[in-house]
Amino acid sequence: MKTLTINGVELAVLDRGRGRAVMLIHGFPLDHTMWDAQVEALQSQYRVIAPDLRGFGRSGVAGPVVSMEQFADDLAALLGALRISEPLVLCGLSMGGYVAFQFWRKYAARLRGLVLCDTRAASDSPEAAAGRREMAQRVLREGPAPLVDTMLPKLFAPDTREKHPEIVAALQRVMLGTNPQGIAAAAYGMAERPDVTPQLGSITCPTLVIVGQADVISPPQEMRAIAQAIPRARLVEIAGAGHMAPLERPAEVSAALREFLAAL
Ligand code: MLT
Repeated sequence: MKTLTINGVELAVLDRGRGRAVMLIHGFPLDHTMWDAQVEALQSQYRVIAPDLRGFGRSGVAGPVVSMEQFADDLAALLGALRISEPLVLCGLSMGGYVAFQFWRKYAARLRGLVLCDTRAASDSPEAAAGRREMAQRVLREGPAPLVDTMLPKLFAPDTREKHPEIVAALQRVMLGTNPQGIAAAAYGMAERPDVTPQLGSITCPTLVIVGQADVISPPQEMRAIAQAIPRARLVEIAGAGHMAPLERPAEVSAALREFLAAL
């Protein structure tokens, strides 16, 4: 891992391989290790960049609220610091997808393609936003455990929970190890994120939409609608996977990514 000071915060970033750049953006409250299998699968052909967003993993924490736009600004500055000026492919899962949408909104010219994995274009309902803010307060008081207890049962397909408890346990460790301030800041940021549904039709770069068929957080029905609204999108549904498709079905997700990247 490299550590770079970006927009006043120390960001840890994995930078592997050579070739056209692909950046992998993790979900909430996770870190770059959720992409280990995809880094492994892509690094022989591509330069794979997998950062820990501010407040997560080994990166520093800054600010009581971090908007999805701020995360996107960090990534744009990170690309500058890594001297990546060619257009790249940005791939985000869930919160990483919210960040990818904001990156597209501000830096579309820097994108060769977009991968939206188990994510949502809609903003939070007022009730969901209020619930998030309440949870952020709880995490600041009690640590990540209450959030982990709420989220973990929803992240995986039943098949993963039964056959691969080690995947669930490893993710639980990452979540429990995340800085409470980082969690709260991103939760506040997600609660105020804009609805990008009306803009989906303007995303003109090649786009791959990936969803686990058993995803209950960003369900297939919702992701099919996203794929239909984006002019050059292709949808891949991953059987036997939930919200954490890249961890649950790493070979299938990596194959979909490779095929998409090869065609660009
Ligand atoms: C994630 O996986 O990043 C979260 O489910 C995003 C969210 O809470 O909306």
